[in-house]
Amino acid sequence: MNNAPIGIFDSGLGGLSVLREVRALLPHESLLYLADSKYNPYGEKPERFVEARTLQVCEWLVAQGCKALVIACNTATMHAVHTLRERLALPIIGVEPGLKPAAAASRSKVVGVLATGNTLKSAKFARLLASLDGESRFLCQAGSGLVALIEEGDVAGPAVREKLEAYLTPMLAAGADTLVLGCTHYPFLAQAIRGMVGDRLALVDTGSAIARQLQRKLGEHGLAADAGAVPCDRYASTKDAAHLRTMAAALLHVDACAETVSIEPSPPLA
Ligand code: DGL
Repeated sequence: MNNAPIGIFDSGLGGLSVLREVRALLPHESLLYLADSKYNPYGEKPERFVEARTLQVCEWLVAQGCKALVIACNTATMHAVHTLRERLALPIIGVEPGLKPAAAASRSKVVGVLATGNTLKSAKFARLLASLDGESRFLCQAGSGLVALIEEGDVAGPAVREKLEAYLTPMLAAGADTLVLGCTHYPFLAQAIRGMVGDRLALVDTGSAIARQLQRKLGEHGLAADAGAVPCDRYASTKDAAHLRTMAAALLHVDACAETVSIEPSPPLA
């Protein structure tokens, strides 16, 4: 069991930003990455769909023999992690926007939060905000349209820059000095953001914290891979393995062993 894979799931390519950190911290673990690109973006789908679909793809990962799951998608975590933990008997690590570290790091105590519309609308996000009442002022902005561009492989083109300009300029004008990247796709925009705002915004991404949390959970459950185990990674897409392979090469410099898988909703969810 210890050398079974860790399932890492996102609605598309964004979770690769989390996989990158997991791979760096846990070199002996085998990883099974699942991109549900056929049904992306989750951030703009009905909330019930996100919950049901997340459960369905996580059941698929369990059926592949995964020993633990990383829900490398803020939107899916916000809407489904509770249900997953009720239904699935394995360690599940979710992600959420890094408001707490951002509030601690901010000197101006004005923090921009860029996340999907569904993340910002969720009850779990509302509770997170309420728990930090008084710590900072949070300027929450839906990054509409960014995920679709990143899925196509655009991380720095004119359309991306135009959207970032529209989303970040009001934050800077309001005195923000810190920006939470509250969607796992957005770390791939770090260079474009840097080119636009320089060091006026410190970027907060929780990928490395998630990897450390995964390491702790594996230890607690006695599930860490054997020292010296040689990892065997798989990359699966519900849409197009060739595109996933191209993007893994472009974003992570990884030569991914990629496959297209069919996980069709039954009954239809959409
Ligand atoms: N990467 C996902 C997240 O962290 C969302 C992408 C989507 O909208 O599907 O929220």
